[in-house]
Amino acid sequence: MSTSGSIKSEQPDDTQNTFSDVDIESGANLAIAPKRTKKFIILIASVAALGGLIFGFDIAGAGATFVMGGFKHHFKWECAHDDIGCVGASQGTMDRDKGLINGLFGIGAAIGALLNSRLAEQFGRRITLGLSALVFIFGASIQAWAPVMEVMWAGRIFSGMGIGMLSMCSPVYIGECAPEHIRGALGTLWQLAITIGIVLASAMNIGLAKLDYGWRISYGGNILFAVILILCLAFMPESPRWLAAHGTEEQVKESLSKIDSEVEKLQHEVEEERKLGQAPWSEVFSNKNLMRRRVILGFVLFAFQQLCGINAVMFYAPDILNTFFTESQAITGTLVLNTINCLSTFITVATVDRFGRTKLLTLGGMLMFPCLVACGILSVAEQTQGVGYAVLVFAAIYIIGFAFSWGPVLWIVIPEMFPYRTRGKAVGICVMSNWIFTTLVGAVFPVASTASLGACFFFFAGAIFVAVGVVYVFQVETAEKTSEEIDQAYENHKPALKRKDW
Ligand code: BGC
Repeated sequence: MSTSGSIKSEQPDDTQNTFSDVDIESGANLAIAPKRTKKFIILIASVAALGGLIFGFDIAGAGATFVMGGFKHHFKWECAHDDIGCVGASQGTMDRDKGLINGLFGIGAAIGALLNSRLAEQFGRRITLGLSALVFIFGASIQAWAPVMEVMWAGRIFSGMGIGMLSMCSPVYIGECAPEHIRGALGTLWQLAITIGIVLASAMNIGLAKLDYGWRISYGGNILFAVILILCLAFMPESPRWLAAHGTEEQVKESLSKIDSEVEKLQHEVEEERKLGQAPWSEVFSNKNLMRRRVILGFVLFAFQQLCGINAVMFYAPDILNTFFTESQAITGTLVLNTINCLSTFITVATVDRFGRTKLLTLGGMLMFPCLVACGILSVAEQTQGVGYAVLVFAAIYIIGFAFSWGPVLWIVIPEMFPYRTRGKAVGICVMSNWIFTTLVGAVFPVASTASLGACFFFFAGAIFVAVGVVYVFQVETAEKTSEEIDQAYENHKPALKRKDW
C-alpha cells in the first residue's frame, strides 16, 4: 500500500474528484483545468488500448485463415475444383508458410518494440502511438491485398512491426496516465482489448470462412481500429511523465489537469522525475538501482509468458481442434476458447489492485500446469472426438488460468518495474523478449506438434512450473506502490530462499 501522497488520494472517490477541488487544496495553478474525473482517464486508457484490439484481431485472424478454403485455394495449399493445372502444396510447404506467417510477424514486432523504446522517448507517447498505428495500417493493407505468399510475408513484417510498437507504447502510456490505486485495473484494459479483438475476429471468421475473399478481411479488418485510434489521439493528452522530461512546466500542468485527480501527488513525482532526466543505455544495463537484474527479470518473465504455450493455442487452436473435429466445429470450438479468454480477464480487473500482481501470477500458473499435463497425456491417446472434447475442457481451464494472470498481469507489471528514467528503454527490451518468444513458439509449433503434440504440451507445462518459481523467488509486489516505493522494494527484496518466511 502506498504510504506517500496527499490525504485526498488515499480516499479515491469517483464522484468527488473534480479538478476544481484539487486546485483549492493544492494551490496549484490549474485555473484552466476542466472538470474531468476518473471517467476521462478510463476513456483515454480505452483509446490507447485500441492497440490491443488490433493485436488480438490479428492473432485470431491469422490462425483461422489457415483452415479457410478461400485462403488455401488462393495460395495453392489446396486446389479449387475449377483450378485446372494446380498442384496442391505438400504438408512441409504448408508448415513452412504457416511458420513464416506467424514468425515474420513476431520478428517485425520484436523490432517494433525495440524501435519504439527510442521513438517513444524522443517524440512522446502520443505521437508514437499514432506512428505505430500508421505502420500497422501499411502492413495490414499489404497482407489484405497479397497476390502471392511472398507478398503476404512482407506484409506480416510491417503489420508485426506496427503491433510491436503499439505493444510497447500503449501499456506504458496507460500506466503513466493512471493513478496508482487503479493502475492495475486500467492496465488490464490492454489485455481486455486483446481478448476482445480475438473474440471479434474468431466470431467473424465463422462467416468469413464461407467467403472466397474472407481471409482478406481477417488480415485487414483491424485497419478500422487503427484509424479510430489515430483520430482519437487528436483529443488525448500527452503522458505527463514524458512531458516532465521534455515539455514546459505549463504543458505538464495542463496534461496533469486533464488526466489525474491526484494532481498534487503526481505533480510531486513528475517534478522529481524531471530532475533526474532520461537514463542512457549503459544505465539500463548497469546494476545501479538493481536495474540490470530488473531488466533480466522482465525479459525472462515475458519469455515464460510465451513458453507456457498460450500462442500455440491462440494461433493454432483451429488446427489443433481440426485433428479431432470437422473444420467448422474447430472454428466454433476456437470461438468458445476465445470467449472464455476474454471473460476471464474481468477477474483481473476486479482483483489485480486488491490481491496484488504476484499472487495472481502464482495462482494462474498453478491452474495452468495440471491442465497442460492433462492435454499432453490426452494428445498421445487415440484421436477420437471424445478425447477432443476432453482436450477442449482442459484447454478452457488452462486459458482461464492464463487470462487472469500471466496474460494481463505482465503487461501491467513490466512498465511498473522501472522508474521513469529507464522505463522506455527497459520496457522496449522486455516487450522485445515477448515477441522473440512469440516468434519462436509460432514458428516451431507447427513442425514440433506434427512430430509430437503431447511433447509440446509437456514442454509448456515445464515452462509454467519454472515460471511460477521465478516469480516466487525474484519478483516484488508492485501493486499500489509509487515508482519510488517500487525502487525501494527491489533494493530490500531478498530471494525467498534467503527469507525467514520461506
Ligand atoms: C499475450 C499474447 C497472447 C494474448 C492472449 C497476451 O497477454 O502477450 O501473446 O496472444 O495474451 O490473450
